[in-house]
Amino acid sequence: MDSVTKRYPDGTVAVDRLTLDIPDRSITVLVGPSGCGKTTTLRMINRMVEPTEGTILLDGEDLQRQAVTTLRRSMGYVIQNAGLFQHRTILDNIATVPRMIGWGKQKSRERAAELMARVGLDASLAKRYPYQLSGGQQQRVGVARALAADPPVLLMDEPFSAVDPVVRKGLQDELLRIQDELGKTIVFVTHDIDEAIKLGTMVAVMRTGGRLAQFAPPAELLSDPADDFVEDFLGADRGIRRLSFFPSAALELSTGPVVRADATAEQLAAADGAAHLLVTDADDRPLGWAEPGELAAGDLAAGRLLSYGRPFVPGTDSLRAALDCAVLSPTGWAVAVDVDGRVTGVVSQQTIGEAIRSAHGAADSGDARTEEPADVTKVAP
Ligand SMILES: Nc1ncnc2c1ncn2[C@@H]1O[C@H](COP(=O)(O)OP(=O)(O)OP(=O)(O)O)[C@@H](O)[C@H]1O
Ligand SMILES: [Mg+2]
Repeated sequence: MDSVTKRYPDGTVAVDRLTLDIPDRSITVLVGPSGCGKTTTLRMINRMVEPTEGTILLDGEDLQRQAVTTLRRSMGYVIQNAGLFQHRTILDNIATVPRMIGWGKQKSRERAAELMARVGLDASLAKRYPYQLSGGQQQRVGVARALAADPPVLLMDEPFSAVDPVVRKGLQDELLRIQDELGKTIVFVTHDIDEAIKLGTMVAVMRTGGRLAQFAPPAELLSDPADDFVEDFLGADRGIRRLSFFPSAALELSTGPVVRADATAEQLAAADGAAHLLVTDADDRPLGWAEPGELAAGDLAAGRLLSYGRPFVPGTDSLRAALDCAVLSPTGWAVAVDVDGRVTGVVSQQTIGEAIRSAHGAADSGDARTEEPADVTKVAP
């Protein structure tokens, strides 16, 4: 989008000189307060709304030069409340576009059935009507319908905002999984910054008046909000949330305090000096924390153990997960496990704190800005 403006006939400037380079085969999120021009922007991409000024190029070609029908077929569109046809079955809703472009009844329905599975809808729902589905199920139908003709571009306007937080998280995870498989170019509108951060490869924060406030990957939004508006919009816990983008793989784990429940007196003595011992079963699965002073060999299995809380998986989980694990642990130590749940070591809050500081240092020195920071209230590390 190159300096695109939309002024509605009544004079409202919905979008004001918006320039955005939307990357291929990834999710770009438009986020911002109500009325800031998100829907207008999305609709200019499939030409349901025509820009007043500026140009929109798709793969280098001006949208204005393309036939609207061809363009719309190359772009799936999902809206809030799914916008399903109430008098058509689920299967026929999904088969709408394939039918429209002449695929034939049989092939269209086969495609629809395949998509139901892909978006996590049970085949038994095929013959139902939209009103017989939950809100979350209807949204899945909306996504399936948009994907039916396999368009390269998917436009999604607050598709998950009408469902409860648990269903919403499920739909978000599902979208990320589908995107991993299909690699569509997705433009996703939301007013929920957490949804934007979770889903977006790039996030465009818009402000009232249809102007772009910042366009950046989510980690950069959290570390370097462009101004007070973006910072306010990001909300509290920005520092903690940023830790989601730092891997935990490099954390140095200690195995000294880890003992098996059937440890001998010598093995216990070898772990001497640790403030707490993490006891595991013979399969290395965690059982709980013990105080070493109170123990003799043979006591461990029977002893009263403190809960080890929720372990984290280095390499998969972020520093945020590792920190959370340590904060929730009664000993202040986080338990690391492999993907099969076997203990690989333990790590203290202090070590995690050091890893956080060095991750911040690495991220900041990777920052390409050359100007002196003007913000004097920032404390030097
Ligand atoms: N057809 C129209 N005629 C006049 N003004 C319009 C029209 N459609 C939208 N607007 C105005 O343009 C501005 C942007 O609207 P838009 O629907 O793009 O916002 P939005 O960011 O999607 O908001 P929301 O989060 O509430 O969906 C608003 O001030 C709105 O009132
Ligand atoms: Mg809108």
